[in-house]
Amino acid sequence: MKLPIIRAQAIEILKSQNPEEFDLIHYLMSEAVMKEVALKMGEDPEYFGMLGLLHDVDWTLTKSDVKTHLTKAPEILKEAGFDEEFIQIVLSHGYGFKELPELKDKVRTKKIEWALAASETLTGLIYAYALMRGKKVSDMEVKGLKKKFKDKAFAAGCDREIIKEIEKAGLTIDELFGCAIEGVKKIKDEIGLE
Ligand SMILES: [Fe+2]
Repeated sequence: MKLPIIRAQAIEILKSQNPEEFDLIHYLMSEAVMKEVALKMGEDPEYFGMLGLLHDVDWTLTKSDVKTHLTKAPEILKEAGFDEEFIQIVLSHGYGFKELPELKDKVRTKKIEWALAASETLTGLIYAYALMRGKKVSDMEVKGLKKKFKDKAFAAGCDREIIKEIEKAGLTIDELFGCAIEGVKKIKDEIGLE
């Protein structure tokens, strides 16, 4: 699975759109979590990481009209040299969202798709939990994160059912949480956490 561009070029694409700080943090966290998940699954961390980084590549351009989210992504990714397989995996993280007319009735069928959807969704929960802990992630534990996962009122926008899809990719929820905390710790300085 070859990538047509390097990480710095992917960052360049994202930054050229003037993303909000919060969105950029989401992309970087998704990348970090996906890399750890790849290692756990015995897959390619660079490829998984790139999917995490670029999964919302058109978000800044479409967020004012949510139903158009992921309609511009194929064109942007194709132009950057990504193949159809990569593009389809990116689109798959929007499957099931009632706001997205083209994708709402589709279902994910591949391990890499479940991994992406679960990982990127979990970033919202971890970030909210980190803020609650005074931005501290260096001593965050799976147990604490799991408690927040079970508390449906906490970061209610993070769909627990999508996070659970990680089990279809062959990892347990605990393994995903472990990967996620590990990944986020590695980039904590970059995303303003401690
Ligand atoms: Fe996302």
